[in-house]
Amino acid sequence: MLDRAHNLPALPPEIARRRTFAIISHPDAGKTTLTEKFLLYGGAIQMAGQVRAKGEARRTRSDFMQMEKDRGISVSASAMSFEFGDYWFNLVDTPGHSDFSEDTYRTLTAVDAAVMVIDGAKGVESQTQKLFEVCRLRDLPILTFCNKMDRESRDVFDIIDEIQENLAIDVTPASWPIGIGRDFLGAYDMLHDRLELMDRTDRNTVAESIKIEGLDDPKLAEHIPAPLLEKLREDVEMARELLPPFSRQDFLDGSLTPIWFGSAINSFGVQELMKGIGEFGPEPQVRPAEPRAVSADETKVSGFVFKVQANMDPKHRDRVAFVRLCSGHFKRGMKLTHVRSKKPMAISNPVMFLASDRELTEEAWAGDIIGIPNHGQLRIGDALTEGEMLRFSGIPSFAPELLQSVRSTDPMKGKHLEKALMQFAEEGAAKVFKPMIGSGFIVGVVGALQFEVLASRIELEYGIPVRFEPSQFTSARWITGPQDKLNAFMNVNKSHMATDHDGDTVYLTRLKWDIDRVERDQPDLTLSATKEML
Ligand code: G4P
Repeated sequence: MLDRAHNLPALPPEIARRRTFAIISHPDAGKTTLTEKFLLYGGAIQMAGQVRAKGEARRTRSDFMQMEKDRGISVSASAMSFEFGDYWFNLVDTPGHSDFSEDTYRTLTAVDAAVMVIDGAKGVESQTQKLFEVCRLRDLPILTFCNKMDRESRDVFDIIDEIQENLAIDVTPASWPIGIGRDFLGAYDMLHDRLELMDRTDRNTVAESIKIEGLDDPKLAEHIPAPLLEKLREDVEMARELLPPFSRQDFLDGSLTPIWFGSAINSFGVQELMKGIGEFGPEPQVRPAEPRAVSADETKVSGFVFKVQANMDPKHRDRVAFVRLCSGHFKRGMKLTHVRSKKPMAISNPVMFLASDRELTEEAWAGDIIGIPNHGQLRIGDALTEGEMLRFSGIPSFAPELLQSVRSTDPMKGKHLEKALMQFAEEGAAKVFKPMIGSGFIVGVVGALQFEVLASRIELEYGIPVRFEPSQFTSARWITGPQDKLNAFMNVNKSHMATDHDGDTVYLTRLKWDIDRVERDQPDLTLSATKEML
């Protein structure tokens, strides 16, 4: 087994073989296609095309909403588990659209590594950059997949330079492409001295892999035309001179990313990337928590909720809390302590998402993502333990950047609307504020598209037609301080005060200037744009 990072003792084998990661990319770079190939080689689906198949029966979790199909964006995050060789992969899907950055941020708290997909013709795009910054905050190890090499793409050194410069991370080639566009033949595996040749006749055929003895091996000339071979030799020599060699430690620290060149649609380079995730990727890592960090090999089970999805299956009307297990060996039926309420909770029907179907799971290990159906007890940030009062840190809730008031166009459905809104608030899909004065609700989101998604979900899942309207407010801040000072402030500013779905006090305002003024004039009160979810 490979050395563990940070010189910790070896993990139990079942935990050590877990790889929990997300794919980050700009829309259209090929995330869906790559996911599909992962599932194909993980034996989770039988045929390519299933992930994006339009038929109801074949929809996957990451694709379950009509909106999503219409717009080609991923608005829900979910997790899929599958085996690959000796490894157990947990792939956590991140919503691709920038409007869902908060959701994405929380998803990335649940993984140990990320695969960054870039389009070989486009390089580092805006959304890749943003998501990368989020990974950087947590020093997540990143593996890079440069996709669409079967098309005309940019010069390889240019692409690598751009990543190094724009993202301030060292890049080391794990493979080197041979030819580009129409002439793309395959890649030279720089870490294992192998030649991988793409099969153009069948998109689902795995590349032929030929073991060679370095770049002077005469076998190369049997497969690569002379001009391309010459260029390959020159390029690889230059790459070895100019670019850092692979170092597992630098990769695990998040300061170096290995890059593979491939074509997801042609199944090329995908298995090499998967092997890379297995071979080098981090095992389940130590998780920050209060009052102490939690190591994956602790025998007691612990985990935290990073995502709640309501109404995944309209027939069941349940909610599923996605829990990242941080330590121990979980077994179905276990009684865990729900730390926020200090109440025991029997986890009798946990599910794991094995590609297109969710299945009851008998056991799970640190690193795994399990779904726990519940009726609303479990919220984002909640910890589950075997009794210890742990709180996993670093799962923030952001102040919304856009506020609108919402009302039902059917006046008979007001009460139901409140229930629906609270569910979405608990799911983390929106902030819902109840103003101290007046009726109705103010909904806050990070990106405008979320209003449309919410309106469509409220109608679809609860049968309530709603209308979002501009609100007089534009900003929200959580406000805390000594109770007497807070009460005095609330009395004077009644028309600006509201509570969120947890009952925490929120100050709503029109002007950034108001926030500055309160901060200046009320030194005992704290205004905050984020709140830790617990
Ligand atoms: P996303 O999830 O990151 O948004 O990207 P997705 O996989 O949906 O891929 C975006 C488009 O790029 C798709 O084409 C897909 O077929 C294509 N694509 C993915 N990988 C490769 C590749 O290696 N080479 C080439 N040439 N194309 C690739 P589309 O026309 O938008 O969709 P579709 O009609 O093919 O489904």
